[in-house]
Amino acid sequence: MRCQVLTSILLFVVAATALKRRANLQTCPLLAKQYPSPVGLTEDPIFKAAIASLDATLDGGANVVPYNETNFSLGIFNPSTDGFVYQYHHSDAALAASSYGTKSIDGDSIYRVGSISKLLTMYIFLLAADGDRYFNTPVLELVPELKQLASDGWNPETPDFDDITIGDLAGQMAGLARDFYINGIATGSPIFPIAYTPVYSNEAFALIGVALSHLVGRSFEAVFNETLRSTLSLSNTYFTVPSDIGQGVIPGTPLSTGFDGDLGVFSPAGGFFSSLNDFACLGKAILNSTFLSKAHTRRWFKPTSFVEDLAQGVGRPWEIFRRQVNGHTVDLYTKAGDIAAYSSFFALVPTYDIGITLMTAWDPAGTSGGAVRNQLPNQLFNALLPALDDIAKRQAMTNFAGQYMNPQTNSSITIGTDANPALKITAWNFNGVDIFNNVLGLLAPDLDLRILPNELYQERKVGFTSYYQSAAPPPANGTWYLQCSGWIDVDELTVGNLPLGQLVFTMGENGKAMSVESRALRQVLIRQG
Ligand SMILES: *[C@@H]1O[C@H](CO)[C@@H](O)[C@H](O)[C@H]1NC(C)=O
Ligand SMILES: *[C@@H]1O[C@H](CO)[C@@H](O)[C@H](O)[C@H]1NC(C)=O
Ligand SMILES: *[C@@H]1O[C@H](CO)[C@@H](O)[C@H](O)[C@H]1NC(C)=O
Ligand SMILES: *[C@@H]1O[C@H](CO)[C@@H](O)[C@H](O)[C@H]1NC(C)=O
Ligand SMILES: *[C@@H]1O[C@H](CO)[C@@H](O)[C@H](O)[C@H]1NC(C)=O
Ligand SMILES: *[C@@H]1O[C@H](CO)[C@@H](O)[C@H](O)[C@H]1NC(C)=O
Repeated sequence: MRCQVLTSILLFVVAATALKRRANLQTCPLLAKQYPSPVGLTEDPIFKAAIASLDATLDGGANVVPYNETNFSLGIFNPSTDGFVYQYHHSDAALAASSYGTKSIDGDSIYRVGSISKLLTMYIFLLAADGDRYFNTPVLELVPELKQLASDGWNPETPDFDDITIGDLAGQMAGLARDFYINGIATGSPIFPIAYTPVYSNEAFALIGVALSHLVGRSFEAVFNETLRSTLSLSNTYFTVPSDIGQGVIPGTPLSTGFDGDLGVFSPAGGFFSSLNDFACLGKAILNSTFLSKAHTRRWFKPTSFVEDLAQGVGRPWEIFRRQVNGHTVDLYTKAGDIAAYSSFFALVPTYDIGITLMTAWDPAGTSGGAVRNQLPNQLFNALLPALDDIAKRQAMTNFAGQYMNPQTNSSITIGTDANPALKITAWNFNGVDIFNNVLGLLAPDLDLRILPNELYQERKVGFTSYYQSAAPPPANGTWYLQCSGWIDVDELTVGNLPLGQLVFTMGENGKAMSVESRALRQVLIRQG
């Protein structure tokens, strides 16, 4: 009897421990879109609330430093919405009295964009030179004039243009000096060897301009005309000072603001002018892969190097910032630009299919310089990212969650969400076999089974790839090896060569899933309710 009692107490203790342990279990998301990109933002109450608070911040700030020393334009856009999902222009009374340029700022007003030129140059390069296929080509092959700079043998004072590639230049990995320029061709000692650590270089982009021009056998101006002007129809974008400055934002004189002044061979690095409308067109075309293939676009949205900060990276020439949003990581692909009285910021976030442009012209006589450009991206993204994530999650719930069944075969799948990112599968039966508990559950105890949009299908089909892992207790302090390594075995179970977890939904006219097909199990289940 005693024994019996003891046993049951022991059982109780064991069960209670297991429960306690289970409550602490963790999973790790996969780096990817957790949900399809949100749509219909302008109608969405969460987005409207985020925008209302942004409006209040901007209106409230209008009369204080730094906003009262800065004329600026802010635009948020996404490819599924015409125009902007939000735009804000701040021009003060003084602007109306300005002797130069526009008297009232709108989406067609022209700002200098400084180093965002580097991004435009790379887009021009990708469009004109067959995407990234020349990224591994040595610069010397495209700019043979550089040979005259080469010395015999090893020389730490001469860049090794035989080994520096276009990709090294674009990714800030050539080790070149920041600004150096003699006789139309960049020169100057290297700062570091090739592919050592990112160092920002204007010279690199001057060289890319020359290389592109040699590669296609036309002037940079001709390629600019063919790509940004003709293909994209950007009518307010220039790489030299526009002859008509009537739409320019010029808080002072063209000289005092630096609106005037061509950069010559450095134009590809910093000489461009553009407008909020043109940047929205450009950003949408990039996000939608309208003119560049999806593979080239996705490859462009990848880092070339880390930097010291764990949450930052460098691309070609993206300045990448990594933010945590509702428990997963979102990469912001940005580029900043500064030239004379102009400071600007451009960001694309493929995770949510959204872009932001901020162009500012600050009062050279003021005290705050580029402070609006330096501050606003923090507030903007801190407010927008959680809102966009919530909207994407809610839309995914409405469009995909629920039970899907085929009663004839006793097959069903149940999809929902919880506090963690991504849609979650909580039950899955196939022909009377409990796939969830008796197949996947055996491989991964405390099974956590999620699905992520895979963008492999089009039109009325939306594909998801499954991601299963064992929920596990938080790692002990100091334990990092093999943590969060789920990407190593994503959906590795196959049936007849098809990944077991791949699900393809068929969407109705209303944008909601009607059925789901398990490609591997070759069965279609109908959404209930
Ligand atoms: C901007 O606002 C500050 C107060 O924050 C004020 O001292 C300053 O005079 C204002 N500058 C202009 C140009 O209005
Ligand atoms: C982007 O692509 C989507 C889907 O094909 C389309 O509906 C939208 O109109 C496109 N937007 C632009 C600006 O091309
Ligand atoms: C580029 O376009 C501008 C404006 O249309 C034109 O004046 C110029 O001649 C063009 N340049 C070249 C090289 O095609
Ligand atoms: C805005 O620009 C005008 C001239 O275009 C300038 O006089 C004014 O000082 C600028 N305002 C601010 C706040 O920089
Ligand atoms: C359907 O399958 C489940 C297991 O997946 C099983 O428990 C249940 O008894 C089956 N129902 C019928 C009617 O066969
Ligand atoms: C882990 O280390 C952190 C920082 O040193 C400390 O605050 C925390 O209490 C430690 N946690 C455990 C479980 O030891």
